[in-house]
Amino acid sequence: MKYTFPHNFYWGSATSAPQSEGHLPDDGKGQNIWDYWFEENPELFFDQVGPQTTSTFAKNYREDLRLLRSIGLNSLRLSISWSRIFPEGTGEINEQAVAFYRDIFTTMHEVGIEPFVNLFHFDLPLPLQNLGGWENRHVVSAFATYASTCFSLFGDLVAHWFTFNEPIVIVECGYLYQFHYPAVVDSKRAAQVGYHLALAHACAVAAFRSGKFPGEIGIIVNLSPIYPKDLSPEHKQAALIADCFFNRSFLDPALKGTFPQPLVDLLQAHDALPNYTEHDLAIIAENTVDILGVNYYQPRRVQAPTHQPEQLMPETYFAHYEWPERIMNPYRGWEIYPQGLFDLAIRLKNDYGNPRWYVAENGMGVENEQRFLDETGQIQDTYRIQFFHDHLSALASALASGANCVGYHVWTGIDNWSWLNAYKNRYGLIALDLATQTRTVKRSGLWFKALAETNVLPDVE
Ligand code: BG6
Repeated sequence: MKYTFPHNFYWGSATSAPQSEGHLPDDGKGQNIWDYWFEENPELFFDQVGPQTTSTFAKNYREDLRLLRSIGLNSLRLSISWSRIFPEGTGEINEQAVAFYRDIFTTMHEVGIEPFVNLFHFDLPLPLQNLGGWENRHVVSAFATYASTCFSLFGDLVAHWFTFNEPIVIVECGYLYQFHYPAVVDSKRAAQVGYHLALAHACAVAAFRSGKFPGEIGIIVNLSPIYPKDLSPEHKQAALIADCFFNRSFLDPALKGTFPQPLVDLLQAHDALPNYTEHDLAIIAENTVDILGVNYYQPRRVQAPTHQPEQLMPETYFAHYEWPERIMNPYRGWEIYPQGLFDLAIRLKNDYGNPRWYVAENGMGVENEQRFLDETGQIQDTYRIQFFHDHLSALASALASGANCVGYHVWTGIDNWSWLNAYKNRYGLIALDLATQTRTVKRSGLWFKALAETNVLPDVE
């Protein structure tokens, strides 16, 4: 059976400023929390490689964009670095950064790649973190100013805007599990951060609408379908709460303008409700999105809690469940489950009014891909092709069932830097030699080209 996709489908890849740009001398960029954390604790980062050492997109973007176009991409999601535009987070604009991003977006149009532009990918300017970061209400207004500045500066070149990438990750990694700076463990502070992120998002959408900028605006959320161990009431309840924490916390405000009631009740019961105002809630209610980006990597499997942490944590309400039949990506430790993408698509259709959405990230990070080099120097990443193939089969089935999905972006185009893992796992359609900065198309890159040029899902081999 041949799976086909609509002729105007967005085929592309995603990356972010902190993971791809790198720093150029005298570029006027200010420090963000990743620059600072690496400076303070380089030992936390794989091979002690930090955000300065990335795939040098800032230097090579003209060639990189042509290369990405040559493997069929018609769209690309990247992010603007807030600390590049506003080195202090607010105040004076860095004019070099304005010229830089205008040239990137112009080049994208020249080569035939539609810009999907995200405003925030985990990279808070350090001066704002020093004010308390997302716990401080002032940062919400600073974000709204930054967002409307970008709409004014680049609105003639960008028609697809996104406010945040994976806002729940900022909450869980920064304030519960210590994978992101400031690496604290405090659920009350986490709730305040989450609330401010939802509000900042809605304020940016409001600014976009009131400025009457052309195009559409949305948010990118990482969704994982939640599967209970079995259908017994205690495991189903665990799944319901996990869903509120990790999916509905941002999905509901973005699409419905409300927060999930079980989550509100739970936070209230633990005296962890954030400070809020009725006026804020009205802004959130009135500013739902035009388009949703969905990052899908893995499902979440849960069971009733197995222990009680000392303070409120997600684990207070559910525990991880290891499904005996799972297939794992051992390098990242994530389950591979393509059916999850179908289930998400159908849920968006049935429970959220079938919004316009696209797959904003999907991909497979693998360590030491040099093992798979053939005699021509090409990485034979058939495991990645299989991964894409199986997820796209699921997506095609969802489209046939009426899902309103308009595109599919892989993570990522050119191997890029990843947070604490740095360059350990590679995700790209194009390999990067970090030492020489040489780019080489992988087998998956050619496979993706065939897909993007025909809208027909090619076989794996
Ligand atoms: C997503 C993020 O969560 O997953 C990316 O938006 C990230 O920034 C990607 O790089 C892959 O995860 P990781 O941790 O392996 O880089």
